[in-house]
Amino acid sequence: MSKILLAGGAGYIGSHTAVELLNAGYEVVTADNYSNSCPEALKRVEKITGKQIKAYELDIKDIKALENVFEENDIDSVIHFAGLKAVGESVEKPVLYYRNNIDTTLSLLECMEKYKVRNIIFSSSATVYGEENPVPYTEQMKRGTCTNPYGWTKVMMEQILEDAAKAQKELSVVLLRYFNPIGAHPSGMIGEDPQGIPNNLMPFVAQVAVGRREKLTIFGKDYDTPDGTCRRDYIHVVDLAKGHVKAIEYAQKNKGTEVFNLGTGTPYSVAEIVDTFERVNEMKINHVYGERRAGDLPESYANADKALEILGWKTEKTLEDMCRDTWNWQKNNPNGYK
Ligand code: NAD
Ligand code: UD1
Repeated sequence: MSKILLAGGAGYIGSHTAVELLNAGYEVVTADNYSNSCPEALKRVEKITGKQIKAYELDIKDIKALENVFEENDIDSVIHFAGLKAVGESVEKPVLYYRNNIDTTLSLLECMEKYKVRNIIFSSSATVYGEENPVPYTEQMKRGTCTNPYGWTKVMMEQILEDAAKAQKELSVVLLRYFNPIGAHPSGMIGEDPQGIPNNLMPFVAQVAVGRREKLTIFGKDYDTPDGTCRRDYIHVVDLAKGHVKAIEYAQKNKGTEVFNLGTGTPYSVAEIVDTFERVNEMKINHVYGERRAGDLPESYANADKALEILGWKTEKTLEDMCRDTWNWQKNNPNGYK
C-alpha cells in the first residue's frame, strides 16, 4: 500500500487523518517540528490503530532535512497540514506567518519535483471565500478578500499550488477548504490541544467545562442571523479526516488542480453550540455576551455537493457527536497531552 507523508502530521487534523489512513491500509510518515503539537499524539495514534508511524522531527522549511525524508522513503503522496493558524497572532506577526506557511509549501513542492512525487493534498480554509461571497460557498466562486495575514497565506498557497500543477502536467493538487473542524476521536485519546488561551470556540467551551477557564464570552448577539449570534459550518474532525482518504484516492487517479469544500452544509449558531454542549454532556457552560470580534463574518457555511458527487464523501456525524466527543477528550485529558 502506498506511503503518505503527512507534513504537520502530529497536529490536530493530521493526527486524526493518520488514524484514518492507517485504518485504510496506508503507510504513514510524518514530518513535524512540534511547534504546535507533540510526539505523544503520534504515540496515541499508534495505540488506537495498532500500527506504526515513521516520525521525523524537522522544520519543513529546512529543505535538506526534508530531502532526507524523501530519500529514505518511497513517498506516493503528500498531505500538507504544516502551518501556523492563529488568526490574531498572524496580524501581530505577519512576516512569521508568510515565511512559515509559504516556505513550507515551496519546500514540499521542490522536494516533490526532485523525487517525482505527484500528489499533494493541501489544508486550505473556508477563509479564502473572503468577505464578498454569499453563503453557501461553492467551489467555483472566486477567492475573496481576507481580513488577516493567515487567510492571505491560504489564498497565496492555493495560487502557488495551482500554478505548479499548470506547469507540471503530471502533478495532482487537491485543495481542501475546511470549514470549522471540532470534536475528537471517539476513543478520547487524541483531540485538539491548543497552547495558551484558545482562540476558537469549541476548545474554549471545553476548557470552561473542565474548569480551566471561568467563562465563555459569546462575541456579539446583534448579527443578522436567527438568534443574533454568528453561524458556522462545524464539522467533526473524524469526518474531515476521512475526506483526506478520499482525496488521496482521487489524486492518485487524476491530474491538475481540484478544489473541494469539506463541510456539512448546515450552519449552527454560537448559542446553539453552547446549548447542545450543555444538553448532551448534562452540564452548564458559564457564559456572557460581549462585543463582536473584529473580522468575524455573520455566517460561513459550505455547499457540500461537489465532494459528494466527485469524491463520494459526506459527513456522517452530528453536532451531538461533536459535542460529546469534544468533552470525552477534554475530561480524559484535562491538560491536553501534558
Ligand atoms: P495544528 O497546529 O494542530 O497542526 C499543524 C502542525 O504543523 C503542528 O503539528 C505544527 O507543529 C506543524 N508545523 C507548523 N509549522 C511547521 C514547520 N515549519 N515545520 C514542521 N511542522 C510545522 O493545526 P490543525 O488544526 O491540525 O490544522 C492543520 C492545517 O489545517 C493548518 O494548515 C491549518 O491552517 C489548516 N486549517 C485548520 C483549521 C482549523 O480550524 N483547525 C481550519 C482551516 C484550515
Ligand atoms: C476562525 C478564523 C478562520 C480560521 C478558523 C480555524 C477568524 C476571524 N477566523 O474561524 O480564519 O480558518 O478560525 O482556525 O478568527 N466565538 C465566541 N467566543 C469565543 C470564540 C469564538 O463567541 O471565545 C465565536 C466567534 O465569534 C465565531 C464562532 O464562535 O462566531 C466560531 O469562532 P472560531 O472557532 O474562532 O472560528 P471562526 O471565527 O469561524
